[in-house]
Amino acid sequence: MTSPLSRSLLNELREYLRESFGLDFQEKMENDLIRYTMLAAKGFGYSDTSQFIQQLIKNKHYPTEPGKLASYYTIGETYFMREKKSLDFIEYYYLPPLIQKRFDKCRNLRIWSAGCASGEEVYSIAIMLSRTIPDIQNWDITLLGTDINTEFLKKAQQGIYSKWSFRNCTESFRDRYFERVNGNEYHIRPELKKMVRFSYHNLVGGSLPGVDDKKAGMDVIFCRNVMIYFSRETIRNVSERLFDSLVNGGILVVSPVEMSTLISPRFNKIFYSGYTFYQKEKKKQRTKKETVENEFQTVTPPPVIAPPGGSGQEENDPLPDIQPVTEKNPFLLAKAAADSGSLNDAIRYCDEALKLNKTDYRIYYLKATVLLELGREEEAMSTLNQLVYLEQDFVLAYFLLGNINMRSGKISEGHKHYKHALKILSKLKPEEELPGSEGLTIGRLAEIINGIGV
Ligand SMILES: C[S@@+](CC[C@H](N)C(=O)[O-])C[C@H]1O[C@@H](n2cnc3c(N)ncnc32)[C@H](O)[C@@H]1O
Repeated sequence: MTSPLSRSLLNELREYLRESFGLDFQEKMENDLIRYTMLAAKGFGYSDTSQFIQQLIKNKHYPTEPGKLASYYTIGETYFMREKKSLDFIEYYYLPPLIQKRFDKCRNLRIWSAGCASGEEVYSIAIMLSRTIPDIQNWDITLLGTDINTEFLKKAQQGIYSKWSFRNCTESFRDRYFERVNGNEYHIRPELKKMVRFSYHNLVGGSLPGVDDKKAGMDVIFCRNVMIYFSRETIRNVSERLFDSLVNGGILVVSPVEMSTLISPRFNKIFYSGYTFYQKEKKKQRTKKETVENEFQTVTPPPVIAPPGGSGQEENDPLPDIQPVTEKNPFLLAKAAADSGSLNDAIRYCDEALKLNKTDYRIYYLKATVLLELGREEEAMSTLNQLVYLEQDFVLAYFLLGNINMRSGKISEGHKHYKHALKILSKLKPEEELPGSEGLTIGRLAEIINGIGV
């Protein structure tokens, strides 16, 4: 007979998953947690889910098949050329001067996709390198894809994909870098496949490439859409460890939906086209005011090496432009202050910006998100209400209003806002980017809201 899952056992399981993998199953995700655990119990041959959990917790320090266990609790949503602006930044602005510098010396590069899922991200990087480095066969390239889900890793190693993985790419891109087999399978070309090495690696507690293996550190670490599943504390700790894994000058690339204020403050920030990149560099001591204003470090564009034959998304993609910086613009100062974690300064700059322009909804949105970070939920709600008065279709505001209400136990009010958000989203194209979201697509936000179970 199956014993019912007790609250205390579920809490122990939550703690176990947080400690072992960093995965943070908050209370609102309890139904998912139970569902995944029932499947995992079955997969490990248990008919009683409680017994399975007890066994897991008992063997905490000697887990059997952690990669198989993780496969029940992780989400591997990914596709080729995802968040292409961050790939553009690396391809057009970060790599060319580095390649030039290393050309006469060591001719090596080390790039790590941490949380690579089924491999689309790391193969996108292989493609990018193959067209950025003309004599790539003479280079010593380390391109590492790691994950805790061994099912995803098996798929990554095979390098075989369906059309769905190319939902952000043109057909000509797909046909250039993949071989079509059996009508609907796409095999990554062998010369690209052999550039990549995959292995199991747990970001929470696993040894660090470039630190523990005594090799040189990583030049670039992609860790996109991974830390969104972690608790605040884990994000801070993991980003500290990733910092240690980089060479001086190396870059950490995260997704724009990540909680940027929690990333280690040891990084310098680079702003580019609405995205924030994190660079490891020795910082000189600065005053607080300088810290905020100097956050506007932008990259100086080096001579661009044009990709032979297209970049992946659009055949004639215009080259990405560096956003102009106006240091006296209080809205930009507010953004920089928020990104650097100076939240009270960010509020002050938002208020200054609102004095100059009371109708710019972006200022209200930024102010609301910062107020939320500060735990000032009532004020955040009133700011969001001002925002939707001005901009009735600004979907992210309804999403945040939904979150705040749900958190404070006002479930039906929360659902009302989520439903309103879904209604607006249903009129838009899923693949398009959500205005004001810095990279989140319409479809992804709808998935997130539906995942909450409205
Ligand atoms: C949504 S996918 C992101 C894939 C890819 N980086 C992208 O942006 O398209 C998140 C991945 O993070 C992995 N992951 C979650 N926790 C992890 C941990 N503690 N260590 C390493 N990988 C982890 C999951 O298994 C999953 O494959």
